[in-house]
Amino acid sequence: MENSEPAAKTSKGIASTRKIVVLRWGHRPQRDVRLTTHVALTARALGASGFILSDTVDQKIKETVEKVNRNWGGEFLFEMGKPWKTAVKDWKIQGGIVVHLTAYGENLQASDALKRIRSLKKDILILVGSQKVPKEFYSEEVSDFNVAVGNQPHSECAALAVFLDRFFEGKELTKVFGNAKIAIVPQKRGKKTRVEC
Ligand SMILES: C[S@@+](CC[C@H](N)C(=O)[O-])C[C@H]1O[C@@H](n2cnc3c(N)ncnc32)[C@H](O)[C@@H]1O
Repeated sequence: MENSEPAAKTSKGIASTRKIVVLRWGHRPQRDVRLTTHVALTARALGASGFILSDTVDQKIKETVEKVNRNWGGEFLFEMGKPWKTAVKDWKIQGGIVVHLTAYGENLQASDALKRIRSLKKDILILVGSQKVPKEFYSEEVSDFNVAVGNQPHSECAALAVFLDRFFEGKELTKVFGNAKIAIVPQKRGKKTRVEC
């Protein structure tokens, strides 16, 4: 059922509803460290269950994401170095679908792409680029869907955030992250945290 999909509150709940993993392609170690880290943290915070930094290894990003996991909880998986073709192939063998986020794709608002994605009820690998992505990303062999968060070029971080929020219908924003050391106590003003046992 389209609307019954994103109901879970705990990190385990969201993951077990349907697994979404984000693959970041084209990371340039000299200039993309901060943005790639932000893509990974956006994926984690907005309900994805894992992140693959494909084709490259960047220990600094791994350490940052793992530190956030240790402090703020959840069961977010981080993987790096795997060639994107292998990641896509493995994902499809396991029965998942691939959604490529691109300004050239079907408009998320104007098309029924999200409805069609949901109706398949399969785990989703989301591909986001950095530099210009290989042509194959747009092909049927790689992407089951090419989805545009508006047909204007902007940012992988923004595109991912909007897609996840639409997919989970905002419910990911109240997700509870288990095994956290620290949690934020929302305030009208100021900053308050509590130490979790
Ligand atoms: C900064 S863009 C660079 C795009 C690159 N110059 C090209 O021509 O393919 C990096 C990534 O952000 C994502 N992106 C940017 N705008 C988007 C949009 N409107 N909808 C969906 N994804 C978008 C895509 O995943 C893209 O690969």
